[in-house]
Amino acid sequence: MAKRQLNVALIGRAFMGKAHSNAWSQLNRFFDSSYEAVLHTICARHREALEPFAAKWAWANVSTDWKAVCGDPAVDLVDIGVPNNLHAPIALAALKAGKHVACEKPLAGTLADARRMRDAARRAPGKTFVWYNYRGVPAVAHARALVRAGKVGTIRHVRAVYLQGWADESVPLAWRFDRKLAGSGSHGDLNAHIIDMNRFVTGEEITEISGAIAETFVKTRHTLVGPVAGGIAEGLKKSSRKARVTVDDAVLFLARFSGGAAASFEAARQATGNLNKSGFEINGTRGSLRYSFERMAELEYFDATADAAVRGWTTINCSNHAAHPYAAAWWPEAHPIGYEHTFVNSAYNMALVLAGRKPTAPMPDFEDAYQTQRVLEAALISARLKRAVKLSQVK
Ligand SMILES: NC(=O)c1ccc[n+]([C@@H]2O[C@H](COP(=O)([O-])OP(=O)(O)OC[C@H]3O[C@@H](n4cnc5c(N)ncnc54)[C@H](O)[C@@H]3O)[C@@H](O)[C@H]2O)c1
Repeated sequence: MAKRQLNVALIGRAFMGKAHSNAWSQLNRFFDSSYEAVLHTICARHREALEPFAAKWAWANVSTDWKAVCGDPAVDLVDIGVPNNLHAPIALAALKAGKHVACEKPLAGTLADARRMRDAARRAPGKTFVWYNYRGVPAVAHARALVRAGKVGTIRHVRAVYLQGWADESVPLAWRFDRKLAGSGSHGDLNAHIIDMNRFVTGEEITEISGAIAETFVKTRHTLVGPVAGGIAEGLKKSSRKARVTVDDAVLFLARFSGGAAASFEAARQATGNLNKSGFEINGTRGSLRYSFERMAELEYFDATADAAVRGWTTINCSNHAAHPYAAAWWPEAHPIGYEHTFVNSAYNMALVLAGRKPTAPMPDFEDAYQTQRVLEAALISARLKRAVKLSQVK
């Protein structure tokens, strides 16, 4: 059967530009989707960096004007991979023009922007998606399936961490350290992922933030010169001038889940020795689950109902074609996949939804990602006011 074409326009050509370019091109090669993604237009600010990028990834057109891209009748889906302050204006323009929108996380830098995006999505004909790509990790999607199958019973504790160690004093003031562009620091960058991941795995909502700490350890940084290179801080060049950092380096908070579990969340950019450690431990009445992205193939499971003679943690390599989500699209069992595959798997879920089919695991739409944004906001309020905040107070 002939495939339908999905003309994609991607805004942003650096770190996520590379991840998403790869996702849309690999989708066609590894998955049997009724859509063929067409790399139609790549858009970013600097034409001199854009043209070689387009040639490398086989984007058909280049543009430095996202408004024109959103209005282009040939484009079906606008993919947003730019700093957080630009998510709302681009998404609103794309939705108004009737496009589907796939937006990077967090949904926005501020709750007000996120609300406008959610409201616009409710009215618009296009479908919306947010690249919470860790839902595309087989071990994470499998953890969700085990929770749904009752393997951990009633959840009592959730321990969530996202620890990185890259942001020492030598790193210049990229957009990630500027509240006007990013909204927050490690919080919107890292806690956003683990809030989404743990809402996804547990199937529960966070109902209260019981306390939070936000810290900025490095108060000033050298300002940036030149374009970004395509990683978190790789290749950034700095001037001799310094300016104030306006976001957090670390945010820790305690929370309650709707099923009664007590939870802790930790996001940090200066957790030295932790390169990209995102994960959770979930303890329930029948069993527990443990996962860390630094060993992304593996999910650890403790079955509390097993015979005491053999009871203990089991390490599951989540690459079995019959048993584990996404595995059959890739390589033989235990031939590992990596970070980039989480984006391809996510793009596949989007293609399934656009074709009216059930995704392997649901990607968040704007409505769903708005709930994560409310939790982010509640934690910042809690840190500022030094008191508990109920989610029902954060609309
Ligand atoms: N899902 C993930 O794992 C993950 C990882 C990193 C970043 N992100 C998110 O992706 C988004 C982008 O982050 P990044 O790390 O790719 O940033 P980056 O700094 O590497 O790239 C930003 C890109 O945006 C472009 N840009 C900036 N202003 C623009 C404008 N006005 N018009 C057109 N293009 C413009 C820049 O030219 C650059 O190409 C952010 O929302 C971030 O939170 C998600």
